Amino acid sequence: MSEHSSDSPGKRMGRDLLFPTPVYYTDLVEAERINAELVEGIRRWREADPRGEHRTNEPRVGGWHSRADMHTRREFDPLTSEIFELMHGVFADLGYDADYEPACDAMWANINPPHAANRQHTHPHALWSGVYYVQTPPNSGLIYFTDPRPQAQVLTPYYDLRRRSPATWMEVHYQAQPGRLIVFPAWLAHAVQPNLTELDGPQAERISVSFNFHQRRRDAREGAPRRTVVRADLTPG
Ligand SMILES: [Fe+2]
Repeated sequence: MSEHSSDSPGKRMGRDLLFPTPVYYTDLVEAERINAELVEGIRRWREADPRGEHRTNEPRVGGWHSRADMHTRREFDPLTSEIFELMHGVFADLGYDADYEPACDAMWANINPPHAANRQHTHPHALWSGVYYVQTPPNSGLIYFTDPRPQAQVLTPYYDLRRRSPATWMEVHYQAQPGRLIVFPAWLAHAVQPNLTELDGPQAERISVSFNFHQRRRDAREGAPRRTVVRADLTPG
């Protein structure tokens, strides 16, 4: 692999970075138009269904969480198709089997008013998860990911902070800006800081969309029961 090498006195030292955690992101070109429609559509949805979805293991602290069928609602198609396009890119980038395609399990809208937050969590039973930002007032909370390797946190070395490499970060925050789409492995623990905006009213709400994807055989019927992907020709190595 030899991702990196450096010279030390008298020796050349190679370094491989094994088992990386990929996080993909893009900023939608059509964000302004898509977001104007999303703000309206999501607020209408909340008015029609103010209770939204409640789960016993939900990481949400305050705020509103829609039902998880957003990907089946035609009015949200412009965003749904952008998400699918990115997921196809992820599948291609990672060299997934071309007989399998991205399939959306669940997609839902989140409205975090001031002081709402999301505790650390993962997305069980999904392969990939992601978030899209619709409206993010200043200081309304960033998403952050934490190092999924507990061993790496047992003993934290002292770093020279002026030279610290991203490969040694233990917590990574992403800017939540309207139009940004971020995709990450569903097992990667993440959380959202509280919304501490000083704005009032509708402009104070942090609005985002979350989703889960899995891998489905291209010839599977729409709505067919999901199958666990077992490949007899693959052995651990
Ligand atoms: Fe999440």
